[in-house]
Amino acid sequence: MTEQSITRFPPPRPAVPPAPHPPSPPVGDPVDPAEAYAFLEEFHHENGLAGLEQRRHEVRRQLEATGTYSHTTAELTWGAKVAWRNSARCIGRLYWNSLHIRDRRHVGRADEVAAECFEHLRTTWRGGRIRPTITIFAPDTPAGRRIRIWNEQLVRYAGYEHDDGTRTGDGRNTGITAYARKLGWEGAGTDFDILPLLIETDHEPVRWFPLPRDAVHEVRIEHPELAELDLLGLMWHAIPAISNMCLEIGGVSYGAAPFNGWYMGTEIGARNLVDADRYDVLPQLGALLGLDTSSERTLWRDRALVELNRAVLHSFDRAGATITDHHTESERFLRHVHREEEAGRVCPVDWSWIVPPVSGGLTPVYHRYYDEADLTPAFRLDEPAMRRARGEVPDRL
Ligand code: ARG
Repeated sequence: MTEQSITRFPPPRPAVPPAPHPPSPPVGDPVDPAEAYAFLEEFHHENGLAGLEQRRHEVRRQLEATGTYSHTTAELTWGAKVAWRNSARCIGRLYWNSLHIRDRRHVGRADEVAAECFEHLRTTWRGGRIRPTITIFAPDTPAGRRIRIWNEQLVRYAGYEHDDGTRTGDGRNTGITAYARKLGWEGAGTDFDILPLLIETDHEPVRWFPLPRDAVHEVRIEHPELAELDLLGLMWHAIPAISNMCLEIGGVSYGAAPFNGWYMGTEIGARNLVDADRYDVLPQLGALLGLDTSSERTLWRDRALVELNRAVLHSFDRAGATITDHHTESERFLRHVHREEEAGRVCPVDWSWIVPPVSGGLTPVYHRYYDEADLTPAFRLDEPAMRRARGEVPDRL
């Protein structure tokens, strides 16, 4: 699909709305029995539960009849928690066992999925004391049921590319923004337009659903002392809720299972607002702060970066929204690693993701090696999911 170029706002609507792409034919592999049994064994073993043989028989019967099987509430809960525990890129795993599960396996229609995503955002907020939460929708089935949320997160800002090469909004999301506009969504054209949810199911082409105002909490970014920073007019959404990763438990794929924790400041203050292909605010901030930007050797970027990160933490604190800093979280993470070792488990860690993007060497997570095992249950991001998040139509649902 070609991306539409945009010259000015309000943007021109396409004269003829493009036909939504047709739903894919039913596809799906049966669950691999070996994966199912391995999961049941681990579940029973780790939790010291009896009845493994009986449960295995039950599952075998279901597999033979349908090619898949249904997790008990306890299996689903533990599976989702352990998928988090196994996420090698996540520094926040000390809290894996506190994950709140919203079992919505009976929900499979796009409009109901959207409504439950909105409710997810409302309930995880808890007045600012954000609670790690996952909502699990109907899993994929061999008979062809599939639900996919195209957005990489429930809350994301639109990005618009202009003809003169400039950009409005989040450069990461220009592809999905263009696609949403082709479907008929119209953004206001600000730097912080919230994208609608794009949801596709096996029996409906992709549809878009605007987020209700009351589901979204945002924090205006202001500096505790340097009022110049406030002039940038920055903000960010309070809840990072990943919505395009597939939750895999015992061979069953839950293709729609949005989950969230809370932010670590550097995600916003050192990446989202700073990456050159995203908001790229450092040049402007450096100038506003009167830093000497004539040479890299003045380290003006680094100085501006620290102040931006102070502003992010300060602003979330003032708004009463949970956020952590990279020093605290690094220490907690090592506590988690040690706990896992004590429990006799392997804790997979991807160093390049765990070390924070600022002051890496100041944090204890920098100074050691880790296991890199690939364990299940797991959250996985596949190629089609990444393409959808860029507004590209993958070959199959
Ligand atoms: N880095 C992503 C973002 O800035 C969020 C990833 C998940 N982060 C989290 N703290 N749970 O939006």
